[in-house]
Amino acid sequence: MKLIVCKDYEEMSTVAADIMADVITASDAPVLGLATGSTPVGMYKKLIEMNRAGEIDFSGVTTVNLDEYYPIAPDNDQSYRYFMNENLFDHVNINKARTFVPNGMADDPEAACEAYEAIVASVGAADIQVLGIGQNGHIGFNEPADALEVKTHVTGLTESTIRANARFFASEADVPTKALTMGIGTILGAKKIIILANGTSKHEAVSKMLAGKLDTSCPASMLNLHADVTVICDEAAYNG
Ligand code: GLP
Repeated sequence: MKLIVCKDYEEMSTVAADIMADVITASDAPVLGLATGSTPVGMYKKLIEMNRAGEIDFSGVTTVNLDEYYPIAPDNDQSYRYFMNENLFDHVNINKARTFVPNGMADDPEAACEAYEAIVASVGAADIQVLGIGQNGHIGFNEPADALEVKTHVTGLTESTIRANARFFASEADVPTKALTMGIGTILGAKKIIILANGTSKHEAVSKMLAGKLDTSCPASMLNLHADVTVICDEAAYNG
């Protein structure tokens, strides 16, 4: 794994946005794997600025997002579809029909996962996958467990993730207890991966991931299997 330690969140967001911009400009039809959560918001802001300045063009871009709560409606302001519209898609020249997020409203969530895995396969390997990391080392919604899933699947959220994400909802009881998420294999299918982490609350998870072992109690450690991963973190996440 390549490691870039930045002095703060601002620098981390700039470094990540520059890497994304290089990937976007390198192809007429780039495929971007995208993540939600508070961590990539600064990076998205910079990408919006670059698009407005005419430095990057989203017209040929296809996106596949990692995960979505279940059940949740796309117009719910806590859904990841809503998050992506608000934090990126509504502000750049992207064709929204080419932006994919798992269907949080599907009657049959297992079938929705299978359909999503097929979409990810049909758009072709992501040129880059952006990841955040949970305090417990989760990526997407692949939570620590004895065994990890390979493909897009329905998952229950751990207590610690529900607690961590409650800050975005009216109360902890409002946080959906399930999600649809790409599996570890889906994520590892990307050509290139960047994983962003800031703040001391991420230190333990970042350290476990960087320890170089495959440890299912830290799903992010599975990224050690991929040949092109860059960890971009701030000093707080790196040093604790
Ligand atoms: C969420 C998302 C992850 C995200 C993580 C960290 O639950 N499913 O994709 O990376 O938790 O979130 P944050 O960036 O807000 O710390």
